[in-house]
Amino acid sequence: MPDLPARNVFPHTAQVNGQGRLVIGGCDVVSLAADFGTPLYVFDEQTLRDACQTFLREFRARYPKTQVLYAAKAFSNLALARLLAEEGLGMDVVSGGELALAKASGISPSQVYFHGNNKSLQELQEALAWGVGRIVVDSSHELVLLERLAAQANKTQDILLRISPGVDPHTHAKITTGILDSKFGFSVATGDAERAVRQALSSRHLRLSGLHCHIGSQLFEVEPYQEAMRITLTFAAQMREYGLKLTELGAGGGFAIPYLRDQRPPSTAEYAEALATTLKSSLKELGFGEPAFIIEPGRSIVGPAGVALYTVGARKEIPGVRTYLSVDGGMGDNIRPALYDAQYEAFVANRMDAPATDVVTIAGKYCESGDILVKDVPLAPSQPGDIIALPAAGAYCIPMASNYNMAPRPAIVMVKDGEARLIRRRETYQDLMSTDVA
Ligand code: LLP
Repeated sequence: MPDLPARNVFPHTAQVNGQGRLVIGGCDVVSLAADFGTPLYVFDEQTLRDACQTFLREFRARYPKTQVLYAAKAFSNLALARLLAEEGLGMDVVSGGELALAKASGISPSQVYFHGNNKSLQELQEALAWGVGRIVVDSSHELVLLERLAAQANKTQDILLRISPGVDPHTHAKITTGILDSKFGFSVATGDAERAVRQALSSRHLRLSGLHCHIGSQLFEVEPYQEAMRITLTFAAQMREYGLKLTELGAGGGFAIPYLRDQRPPSTAEYAEALATTLKSSLKELGFGEPAFIIEPGRSIVGPAGVALYTVGARKEIPGVRTYLSVDGGMGDNIRPALYDAQYEAFVANRMDAPATDVVTIAGKYCESGDILVKDVPLAPSQPGDIIALPAAGAYCIPMASNYNMAPRPAIVMVKDGEARLIRRRETYQDLMSTDVA
């Protein structure tokens, strides 16, 4: 069998078959494209399960009281939510919609943490009524609302406070969250965090069980996590004088994945080692017991498991400038290149064994010049009708998809042992007009 190029960006079961075609989960992706149409997103069940088990194993081996929550925003889907719950992950939700998904998935509400910098009254009511495990409070406005709602419902709600530790994690500015100039969390530096702890501790219907921080996403360095945890724990120690008891500490998500063949982010074991070492030494130094430790991976659970498939259409060569190869998807299903200058590898899925002797810019079909999926990428020579595969597309593509240009959003399949199961059908034109009132 021919070799798989750039193995690190593909799902674990990826192979190239004797016909030179990409195979995932035992399914020839060219046949999947024919059966389900393109653009198509393919998720490999084995890679998803491996990621869950690796996170649980590596973190619990070093700190047994670790809980792993899946950050649902990375890809929200019912079949996926059921699979992750089956693997023992809790869920981090950030909206009424994600809360509804969690509820429909059958997960226990005690395993659900509700985040967000501006949760609405209705969302908070929904969370209280369902009995979510924790509400991660982000503002003093929210503390006031929640105390009132909990009092009306005659309930006591467990909460965490989201702390902004003032740490720069060196990632794209649009996915940095823990610095001082951020809309998220209570800043330690400005005294906001201290005021929030006092306010929370004096709220009769809220039980403050600990602190949370999340500093950003796609973080290749472990030091910013360590620094954020030290700052948060030092702050927690100072707050003991007001009566804070630290039963939980949340360190957020942000674990990086490889998008490109030469990227080597820390392994899950390396992240676990770095975080657990700092956690244990800081807890000891500051005289804390063993709080529960919460992590919230999103991208690192679903990202590596997903591959996007497109069909090649028009080609435009501008001599001495650039060659555009247009495909049947683009910014409507993957806004990341346009929004964050995100980079991807690309392959001709029906000719994986051919050398990449062409250099093309893969353009989408949307009416925007910025609708470019991959710029100047080496690719095997291709023709209209060929299938392009973009690996590492499992996170933040589908959930950020839009219907721009009235484009139906793609179908999604889950593959395993040679079987493909539709987990979201392609939208129809009728779907696109179904909420219009005329
Ligand atoms: N926890 C909290 C509180 C978060 O805000 C996030 C992501 C996560 C966990 C999960 O982070 P992850 O493990 O997926 O890095 N749309 C951007 C990423 C935005 C991340 C937002 N928050 C992208 O496409 O890169």
